[in-house]
Amino acid sequence: MIYSVGIDLIDTERIGRALDKWGESFAKKILGIEEYEMYMQKFNKVQFLSGRFAAKEAVIKTLGAFFERRINFKDIQVLNDLYGKPYVHLEDNLRERVLDKEIKVSITHERKMAAAVAIITGD
Ligand SMILES: CC(C)(COP(=O)(O)OP(=O)(O)OC[C@H]1O[C@@H](n2cnc3c(N)ncnc32)[C@H](O)[C@@H]1OP(=O)(O)O)[C@@H](O)C(=O)NCCC(=O)NCCS
Repeated sequence: MIYSVGIDLIDTERIGRALDKWGESFAKKILGIEEYEMYMQKFNKVQFLSGRFAAKEAVIKTLGAFFERRINFKDIQVLNDLYGKPYVHLEDNLRERVLDKEIKVSITHERKMAAAVAIITGD
């Protein structure tokens, strides 16, 4: 069954401006450790960061049904499997609230936009 859905759309120029202004500390504020390692390998860092930003916002929206307090971006990591398909890794403080449910996410990016959809599924 699907419990909830979240969606987000990001203007990549906005992310580019934040990176110009704050530098790497902006990326480090958004990305978890494994995501940051992926980011460092990317040629198009603005596109990658925009996709992750959209994915995290989409996950936060779908988690809204489960949480009242503020959620830290770094506690939601969106990694890629062997085929490039994104999957969500939650840090323990979030995972314990979602328990047996699964969060699925899909990301797309264009030159000026990135978007993501997330859903929570379970029995
Ligand atoms: C995977 C594919 C759909 C991506 O589409 P695209 O138009 O090139 O790029 P988009 O910007 O829309 O999407 C990119 C995002 O798709 C996601 N993605 C990549 N591979 C994926 C897969 N196998 N399944 C689901 N999502 C995938 C990733 O999140 C990626 O962003 P990220 O690398 O920043 O995490 C496209 O490369 C494709 O059709 N490939 C052919 C099929 C294929 O390679 N399948 C995987 C091997 S079985």
